[in-house]
Amino acid sequence: MSVPTTPDPHRTPDPAADTRLGGRTALVTGAASGIGRACALRLAAAGARVRALDRDSAGLGTLAGEAAGLPGTVEPHVLDLTDLDAAEAAAAGADILVNNAGLQLVRPIEEFPPETFGTVLTVMLQAPFRLIRGALPHMYAQGWGRIVNISSVHGLRASPYKSAYVAAKHGLEGLSKVAALEGAAHGVTSNCVCPGYVRTPLVERQIADQAAAHGIPADRVTEQVLLADSAVKRLVEPEEVADAVLYLCHPSASFVTGTSLIMDGGWTAH
Ligand SMILES: NC(=O)c1ccc[n+]([C@@H]2O[C@H](COP(=O)([O-])OP(=O)(O)OC[C@H]3O[C@@H](n4cnc5c(N)ncnc54)[C@H](O)[C@@H]3O)[C@@H](O)[C@H]2O)c1
Repeated sequence: MSVPTTPDPHRTPDPAADTRLGGRTALVTGAASGIGRACALRLAAAGARVRALDRDSAGLGTLAGEAAGLPGTVEPHVLDLTDLDAAEAAAAGADILVNNAGLQLVRPIEEFPPETFGTVLTVMLQAPFRLIRGALPHMYAQGWGRIVNISSVHGLRASPYKSAYVAAKHGLEGLSKVAALEGAAHGVTSNCVCPGYVRTPLVERQIADQAAAHGIPADRVTEQVLLADSAVKRLVEPEEVADAVLYLCHPSASFVTGTSLIMDGGWTAH
């Protein structure tokens, strides 16, 4: 079976047409790569002042160059999110918070290093909690805020060999709902975006581990593992995820809260 590599050719995004985030400050974590990079560029294209947070300073430098000429701005902020106090402080004053930074290790539970389990939970669940905590006072004071948590189909379904990732994403789904309930009276929405497999370095890096864990050749992983449950037989593009994030930040999404925008190619329809 051949695996299509391009998104819908009829998709014609026009970034220049939408600058509704002018005057807004957006904090995007994990902005140096993949989905975070696409979100930072998409929100800056919509006019936002983007604080691009990542531990990868070189990647942030590249991103800042890519953002030149957009209606908004991208300001690099180098930080390792395992420093939870610094993470909370970094979120102060943000109108929009995109909790995106993440990492993956594919390994059976009995071989899964406990310290890596802890790091995954710290970066992908504790840090989002601290970032939300840091962002809420400003959002509540002005009566407006948008929290977008990049969850995953693995926030809703499990796959073998991903104990830490699935646990963190399921936790993030719960955290997002609580933030929605508490924030509603203050004009703050909180939602998750749940993509299937996205064409990013995080996916490319797990091909070898998936091949080893499933006992199949690496060139069969995309078809036999990643896309096995997806009705749409291609990877999602980071820009498609960024479009969903932008939608959740729009005025037209003010009644959308406490939910998950699933873009999994039909995986969870099974
Ligand atoms: N790629 C996919 O298939 C996919 C699918 C669903 C959800 N997601 C989620 O999307 C998010 C982004 O994933 P991606 O695929 O773009 O990955 P990626 O590896 O391309 O980017 C992740 C970014 O997070 C940063 N990061 C990791 N640990 C950090 C830390 N301790 N402090 C600061 N920054 C840190 C990395 O430096 C990197 O720039 C993750 O939360 C991931 O779980 C990805």
